[in-house]
Amino acid sequence: MSNKMIWRCDLEPQHRYFAAAVQDAINRVLPTGRYILASEVAAFEKEFAGYCGCRFAVGTANATDALTLSLVALGVGAGDEVISTPYTAIPTVSAIVDSGATPVFVDIRPDTFLMDLDQVAAAITPRTKAIMPVHIFGNVVDIDELRRVCGEIPIIEDASQAHGATLRGSKAGAFGDMGVFSFYPTKNLGAYGDGGIVVTDNPVHAERLRKLRMYGMVDKDHIEFHGVNSRLDELQAAILRVKLPVLDDMNRRRRDIAARYENELHAGSFTFQAIPSEVVSNHHVFVARYHGNREALIAHLDSLGIQTNIYYPVPLHLQEATRNLGYQPGDYPVAEQLCEEALALTMYPELEPSVLDMVVGAINAYEASMCQVSSNLSLPTSP
Ligand SMILES: Cc1ncc(COP(=O)(O)O)c(C=O)c1O
Repeated sequence: MSNKMIWRCDLEPQHRYFAAAVQDAINRVLPTGRYILASEVAAFEKEFAGYCGCRFAVGTANATDALTLSLVALGVGAGDEVISTPYTAIPTVSAIVDSGATPVFVDIRPDTFLMDLDQVAAAITPRTKAIMPVHIFGNVVDIDELRRVCGEIPIIEDASQAHGATLRGSKAGAFGDMGVFSFYPTKNLGAYGDGGIVVTDNPVHAERLRKLRMYGMVDKDHIEFHGVNSRLDELQAAILRVKLPVLDDMNRRRRDIAARYENELHAGSFTFQAIPSEVVSNHHVFVARYHGNREALIAHLDSLGIQTNIYYPVPLHLQEATRNLGYQPGDYPVAEQLCEEALALTMYPELEPSVLDMVVGAINAYEASMCQVSSNLSLPTSP
């Protein structure tokens, strides 16, 4: 085993690949003297909207703001309810709370890890003002099916982890009333800092979002309503423009890595996230259910210099921050069980096959040793 750490996600090789082009982009922006909401953001918004197959895109400072502003643009606020799942990153729920609304959870499906659409109808009340499905790890919620369940209730897709993933050939984020993406550095399309964006086909939503991200300004002297300061900056937009043309290729590499894990990891030790046949996942992270002692495997891999991660150790309905919602252990049993079993393995597009060999080899050797121990334990004792 090499003594170099194997990170779960390593951004350094990606920087090496893009370094010269990123430097050119930075050099292009710096002499302009225009660093906020100028030509690079406008161009990136156009390019990203086009990539998603949407008419409009509105860049923001991060995806958490983008989710909040999407809700505010719909008029969602205090007294309203927004349906999502407890198996997601905390910002999905932070955004709902920031809008003034109350999060209402439905459980996930045990196979896809996605919102269980069979449970949505029962969660809808007269106060439900939006539904926020999450395309977790790059798998895609069937938004057409969700639409059949929720009728006219607006859908905001949290596609923060799903850049380039598709459902029946169309891009995640483009199905709902609005779709939100994060450009946090480790995302499939990552900036060199924070960034987010909302895509939509609706010109009214787009116009409202443009004002909301800039204090509610109509022009420099007139404020139509109270907004916030949440803008994607020119440098990040210029860098994202360098990476966007390579996104599909990077996603393909992630799929190849996921296929190797699924084909080569010790059979029976893991259950993999089920990707429906009409979905092409972008495998933002590779999370599987592990059926052994997870903490022991994590510690063993750690001792070999192989980093893992747990997405997510605590479901959101059981976090201290959501205690006021009154949920109890057992309320969302599928999410709770997945939180106990989920394990994220090394995944980034530039992962070398030889390094992947080491990760798979280390896990398989460990599993083989565990099988040996358990078969020794089950030997009949001598009289
Ligand atoms: C599902 C999900 N939603 C929202 C966010 C928030 O993104 P950002 O960090 O850009 O605010 C993230 C990022 O981790 C995420 O994974």
